[in-house]
Amino acid sequence: MQSLVIEGGRRLCGEIQIQGAKNSALPLLAAAILGQGETTFTNCPLLTDIYAACRILSYLGCKCKIDGNTVSADTSNLVNFEVPDDLMREMRSSIIFLGAILGRLGECRLSFPGGCELGPRPIDIHLSALRKMGVTIKEEYGMLDCRVEKELSGAKINLPFPSVGATENIMLAAVLAKGQTEIKNAAREPEITDLAKYLNLCGAKIYGAGESTITIEGVDFLHGCQYEVMPDRIAAITYLCAGAITGGEINLAKVCPEHIDAVIPVLEEMGCHLYSYADNIYINAPKRLKPVKIIRTMPYPAFPTDAQAIVSAVLCKAKGTSIIVENIFENRYKHVGELLKMGADIKTEGKVAIIQGVNKLYGTTVCATDLRGGAALVIAGLAAEGKTEVTNIKHIDRGYESIEKVLSFTGAKIERK
Ligand code: EPZ
Repeated sequence: MQSLVIEGGRRLCGEIQIQGAKNSALPLLAAAILGQGETTFTNCPLLTDIYAACRILSYLGCKCKIDGNTVSADTSNLVNFEVPDDLMREMRSSIIFLGAILGRLGECRLSFPGGCELGPRPIDIHLSALRKMGVTIKEEYGMLDCRVEKELSGAKINLPFPSVGATENIMLAAVLAKGQTEIKNAAREPEITDLAKYLNLCGAKIYGAGESTITIEGVDFLHGCQYEVMPDRIAAITYLCAGAITGGEINLAKVCPEHIDAVIPVLEEMGCHLYSYADNIYINAPKRLKPVKIIRTMPYPAFPTDAQAIVSAVLCKAKGTSIIVENIFENRYKHVGELLKMGADIKTEGKVAIIQGVNKLYGTTVCATDLRGGAALVIAGLAAEGKTEVTNIKHIDRGYESIEKVLSFTGAKIERK
């Protein structure tokens, strides 16, 4: 089992090119199923989750090719509508294939995606929306048997929560459905907009992506196209935090500054200076950070839950007390136990984490509990005294392309072993 070994205490300086967005590339790869012919995605991050998505596409009968950061999928011979349990288990977010397979083939069989480190991860919002569109769904023995009895038809859907995955699944099922679908209280994340842009390039008619109401006019046919995946906003936040915790100076290239508008004021409250221009963001951090009064994670465009663990690691070294309220997932403080081993002073009570900044973190062996929790441990290791070994880094490789190479380029002493 691989691990990352970090020699802390080095100030990071330099430029980082941000990878393509994992949480956009995954729904985009599922969406390729809807187009007849070949689709090519450029700026696709090389991640274990992307390989898992390509394995699912291949199993369904698509011809998938990965050539560096370019991934192409030819869906002409799509024959299979079933995703086997082992492939579903590899990646919980495989549920995103449901809407696309139903849209193209009218039936889909896959195992119930289990929970994950963040909690049970229910899909009730996905399923109730698809039922409104004419999908019969039988849930038995952990399997989902979904079938369009007559035809997939547009529907008016009010989401009880702006679920990212549910919004994506409804869009994927609606683009080839009969008539109009309206999604109210839709998720507004940039990944939704990226998905709509790609689908519209393939011939879909989606209006309002990025807003709370999305309207989709069903069409009869979609073709493939070439599309560039948007930059990964969470990776961008991660590397800004690497600069922040080491008192460093980092320029991020190939980012969308507006995608992280909610995080900039938090880093500024810590005492960092940030400037954004075109597709760059520059951060210059002080030697000692200030605490942040309160951070509440909320749906986009507010502070993202995916940044919570990463920013909490930075706040462990701030001079004072910070408070974080995690409103999206019920179990997203698993990284705290590992940070405590490094000398952090954090108390969690339900949704709330109270972080009392300490003068020093100490290197030791810690275990990545989930993707962003693992990234948080790497960030903490950059500023810890001595060596930190982060184990179980398969979680980290799901979302970060060669994190050790990227950080080494800015002066970090970090190696994979
Ligand atoms: C997406 O997950 C992201 N994953 C997550 O990123 C991200 O944390 C999350 O959106 C929120 O921004 C991908 O895009 C692959 P949700 P998703 O549906 O779609 C509840 C990472 O680190 N809910 O918006 O699963 C759910 O339990 C990952 O990159 C229901 O109750 O998120 C959660 O509490 C982690 N019923 C909340 O909504 C449902 O049917 C948000 O879930 C669906 C969701």
